[in-house]
Amino acid sequence: MSSLTLMLAPMEGVIDHTMRALLTRLSPYQRCVTEFLRVTDKVLPERVFFRICPELEHAGATPNNTPVYLQLLGSNPQILANNAKRAVDLGIKGIDLNFGCPAKTVNKSKGGASLLQTPGIVGDIVACVRDQVPSNIPVTAKIRLGFNDDKQFETLIRKLDAAEPTEITVHARTKVQGYKPPAHWYRIAAARSLTNIPIVANGEVWSTEDAIQCVKASGCNRLMLARGALMRPELGRLIQQQQTNQPQQVLPWREIAGLLMEFFEAQGLYYDAKYTPSPVKQWLVYLKHYHAQAALLFEQVKRIKDPVGFGRALEAHLRSTDT
Ligand SMILES: Cc1cc2nc3c(=O)[nH]c(=O)nc-3n(C[C@H](O)[C@H](O)[C@H](O)COP(=O)(O)O)c2cc1C
Repeated sequence: MSSLTLMLAPMEGVIDHTMRALLTRLSPYQRCVTEFLRVTDKVLPERVFFRICPELEHAGATPNNTPVYLQLLGSNPQILANNAKRAVDLGIKGIDLNFGCPAKTVNKSKGGASLLQTPGIVGDIVACVRDQVPSNIPVTAKIRLGFNDDKQFETLIRKLDAAEPTEITVHARTKVQGYKPPAHWYRIAAARSLTNIPIVANGEVWSTEDAIQCVKASGCNRLMLARGALMRPELGRLIQQQQTNQPQQVLPWREIAGLLMEFFEAQGLYYDAKYTPSPVKQWLVYLKHYHAQAALLFEQVKRIKDPVGFGRALEAHLRSTDT
């Protein structure tokens, strides 16, 4: 594999700033992206930008200095550009535009993946934002292969090429394909011949072997990790170690249990205590695809709603991993 650059994907309701802080520490990501900020008809107040990207208080980077891009979702080019400019004034390191969200509410209001049906509008949005955001700030686009099918994929790439974003991330499935395997990495290879803009391949990378296959099939040396990074928080590190022929430093469960506790405590610093068990349970759901211990712990805690009881159960589990 030639030199490989990894990005951490945006995941609404899952990868907030507390999760970004953990995951960017455990794996080497060139950048990460906020959950999407939905833009309709006005420039949003400052507090909304700080809420979705608390890293703005710290020069727009995670504690280990990984740049955070703000993801905007909407369909009005000028309003998106105005919001992008405000984010830049607040110190954001980059703007990412969402053309992949499959959610019904988002698509009804003509945002996210629904725009893939009108490649011209995708191009107009990206061109408008690119034009109005200072040239030293990256403007990236995240797309899928299409909406119902992938017939317009090449047209989309051509429109994006003309709009000149800094980078295009392709989640190699259509909206209709949702999150079902496989991801059609080979479709990205064809698109690469249509543009010189760097393309980031995304979808179904769960292991170092998947990363190798994805690079081979897509021809990309940039990959974005999403669910795989939650299932194995050190996946990005393992992929880098694999390609530089270094020994693989697999995270033992004891350390992951410590991370769960750290995540729970970080939640408590930012959110009302009653909301803190849910994100930890949600992370366990991803972890249990790989770690049998996560499945056991999930069974033990899944019904605990009280944050104090939940914290005690986590502590007891953590202690049990020492023996
Ligand atoms: C729960 C969840 C939330 C997501 N939220 C976003 C989002 O806010 N913005 C976005 O562009 N993509 C979002 N995605 C898509 C991911 O960024 C990624 O493109 C997708 O999961 C495919 O990668 P994977 O197969 O490695 O998970 C989300 C995916 C999931 C499963």
